[in-house]
Amino acid sequence: MTLKKNYAGILGTGFYVPEKILTNDDLSKIVDTSDEWITERTGIKERRIAADDEATSDLAIKAAESALKDAGVTPDELDLIVVCTLTSDRIVPSTACMIQHRLGAKKAAAFDLSAACSGFAYGLSVASQFIETGVYSKALVIGAEALSKYINWEDRNTCVLFGDGAGAAVIGNVEEGYGILSFDLGSDGSGGDAIQIPSSGSRLPVSKETIDQRLNLIHMNGKDVFKFAVKAMGNTVKHSLEKIDMPQEKIDWLVPHQANIRIIQSAAKRLDMPMDKVILTVQKYGNMSAACIPIALAEAASEKRFKKGDIIALSGFGAGLTWASCIIRWSKDN
Ligand code: UT7
Repeated sequence: MTLKKNYAGILGTGFYVPEKILTNDDLSKIVDTSDEWITERTGIKERRIAADDEATSDLAIKAAESALKDAGVTPDELDLIVVCTLTSDRIVPSTACMIQHRLGAKKAAAFDLSAACSGFAYGLSVASQFIETGVYSKALVIGAEALSKYINWEDRNTCVLFGDGAGAAVIGNVEEGYGILSFDLGSDGSGGDAIQIPSSGSRLPVSKETIDQRLNLIHMNGKDVFKFAVKAMGNTVKHSLEKIDMPQEKIDWLVPHQANIRIIQSAAKRLDMPMDKVILTVQKYGNMSAACIPIALAEAASEKRFKKGDIIALSGFGAGLTWASCIIRWSKDN
């Protein structure tokens, strides 16, 4: 274990999901699917869909304001804003800069981080380095997605899985021995084709032809991702624990990426964790990529499920391919 100068932890959390609910029954009227199939294969019952005029930054700002309020931190105290997203409002400028401006966080540096569904655990690990080294004292990490804008509503393999939302956490100094104790970040670009938006950048710029072929929307090989995910989720938590010599029985709560209940159950089994210690939102929000983990964390915190000293494991996997986990000793009083 490395000796830390400062301990970085979560000072406050917040989340926001759009008002519009799309149920499995609603989807069965659009594509050839059923509530039974979606529930059995994924655990998802419904998901939230952003309004036509609602972009990722609109969701992110609400989550950010709620997290700042929970932390008792004002925007002008922020040194850094990291927005983890794969659905930024525009390629340029970054969504983080939009949030910086809308919050009035005058002294904050701001950048977007692209690690798909592992994004929030990546962002938390990056931001915590600035706090631990004493370079910065307050950071805002947001996971926000408007995935519905990239869904092919004719593809039943993908359109039933995704939803929109945003979660945020304010990071700052906490008592010695608390906060983010360890993290594990990983990547395997050889699996990059498994989840992709083929026409979305300089390789194949968006054109009338690519839009006609739906190449500007999410394409996924679900089976390949599933096989990767069941191993990655448990393994990354084990790697984080090894770094601090912590046995896995010490984990009080698992906050996993919420792609599929079967993937979550398999990760919990690998970690010998009963499902009542796993925070679940998949049934009501579906897969919101980088927003899943911070929303699950913020919702559980708002329900006062965590008590000071609890060990919380965050675990994510996603496009890239990427995986990431963090072990946190919860530092807030209820
Ligand atoms: O955040 C990371 C991103 N993604 C993921 O984590 C996704 C990981 N993968 C999965 O969650 C699962 O692989 C899926 C939920 C995507 C698919 O579940 P599956 O049990 O792997 O189903 P499958 O792809 O093997 O498909 C089984 C059958 C197929 O029909 P045939 O070929 O057996 O006749 C599919 O065409 O189910 C069919 N199918 C559907 N049927 C009704 C696929 N999607 C649907 C649907 N409704 N929505």
